[in-house]
Amino acid sequence: MAESWVNSAERIGADLHLELSGSGGRRAALIDALREAVRGGRLAPGTLLPPYRSLAADLGVARNTVADAYAELVAEGWLTARQGSGTRVADRTRPLRVQPPRHAGNRPVTAPPRARAPRHDLRQGTPDASAFPRAAWLASYRRALQQAPDEVFGPGDPAGRIELREALTEYLARARGVRTAPDRLVICSGFAHGLRLLFGQGGGGVLRGPLAVEAYGLGFHRELLRTAGVRTVPVPVDEHGARVGELARERAVLLTPAHQFPTGGPLHAGRRAAVIDWARARGGVVLEDDYDGEFRYDRKPVGAVQGLDPERVILLGSVSKSLSPALRLGWLVLPERYVQDVLAAKGEREAWASVLDQLSLADFITSGSYDRQVRRMRQRYRSRRDRLVAALAARAPHIEVTGVAAGLHAVLRLPPGTERSALKAAAWQDVALDGLAAFRHPEAGTTGPGAGVQDGLVVGYATPSEAGFGAALEALCEVLPPDAPTGSAAGPTNEPPDTPADAPTGSPAAG
Ligand SMILES: Cc1ncc(COP(=O)(O)O)c(C=O)c1O
Repeated sequence: MAESWVNSAERIGADLHLELSGSGGRRAALIDALREAVRGGRLAPGTLLPPYRSLAADLGVARNTVADAYAELVAEGWLTARQGSGTRVADRTRPLRVQPPRHAGNRPVTAPPRARAPRHDLRQGTPDASAFPRAAWLASYRRALQQAPDEVFGPGDPAGRIELREALTEYLARARGVRTAPDRLVICSGFAHGLRLLFGQGGGGVLRGPLAVEAYGLGFHRELLRTAGVRTVPVPVDEHGARVGELARERAVLLTPAHQFPTGGPLHAGRRAAVIDWARARGGVVLEDDYDGEFRYDRKPVGAVQGLDPERVILLGSVSKSLSPALRLGWLVLPERYVQDVLAAKGEREAWASVLDQLSLADFITSGSYDRQVRRMRQRYRSRRDRLVAALAARAPHIEVTGVAAGLHAVLRLPPGTERSALKAAAWQDVALDGLAAFRHPEAGTTGPGAGVQDGLVVGYATPSEAGFGAALEALCEVLPPDAPTGSAAGPTNEPPDTPADAPTGSPAAG
């Protein structure tokens, strides 16, 4: 069984982030990008490259272009090709080390509350829980347990297992364009924990506020920062992401560059460069929340901003979107100057991320299961995204859908003044979702050029199970406001009577 699984993972090959640029044609650009990825260590020795067909499809180039590029790099000695075992990166070595940790006290983590399950759950934030790769995870867990040396069962290293840091270094380099080394990674129990490690409680963290944040973001994260004594300052957001040109006196900014959360646009290339310039000029730091960077559906790759300047960006990632938020596994990719302080903030021993889960994830990545799961889910979510867009085009063409090129959620822009009533209608139908207002920073302006999207619904289309998605989509279409003259003060005609948010299922408004 293990063998056929390895074979199919091998057939699929590695997931690979490449940016083709330059004016010398697609073939030359691909050769340059691959050569650079190997030279820079992003593609580790021995890495299996994707088959021609899948890389060609990902990049939107002809199959022959990929075949020619591989052949050229094999001839140059960068790659090796063997009949039946695909094309791999030729053997080389890789560098970069930092000092061992010094230690300090631990910090507590609190869990968010859980509500009762709604009939149709379209809240953002959760991958399809029915698609967790149970068999492959179990296989990785079993291998990890069988191969673990005895010392694994003693206290854990606060940096995290070296096996996982190595696996992530290689994966993040090839799939997200991250430039780092295992000693710059610290394993944590997810993004939220990473923020706590950086900002501490009561102002005693590695970084200090005030922290610039996007005007739209997760209230939970803002609250976490507030309780840590960190003031957050909103930066306006538009269709090109955060307006980083408006950053003021702060020396740290938290961004979601691959897919602005929740409005959905990638940070514009000019702004990516500008925020790095800002950080260099101010001696500041960019915190990159790379929460769903693997899930892009269009052809344009959006690599991590971290790759532009690893000494000015802290990248935070986790498996919460790619596998499950229940695993509580994440990572910080740090500039060298922060590594020891973050380790000190973690304490003398690993107190959050289970060492066996860390080893399982390491195996899951190195065996190819992680790439395979991401590809499988990308296909599934892309098809759901397409179904959502098609259903809205047919049933509610007056409603614009945005932020659909990536991620696990979309934003439905509503006619002005209709968000509250649409949410009420949804609650009446027991459809759980959020309005954009719930994500707006309390100090963010609601008018003017930087105010961003106004009325809207944030639809988490990954959340329902595959079997429940069709019904959830149907229920969503039922609760959307009908087309009405813009500027009309009248609410939507399907607005239900004023009811509490937990109105009973099967209400008369079910239609
Ligand atoms: C904007 C954003 N950042 C980060 C995360 C990941 O959080 P965590 O790793 O703490 O589960 C999420 C949710 O998955 C998110 O929506």
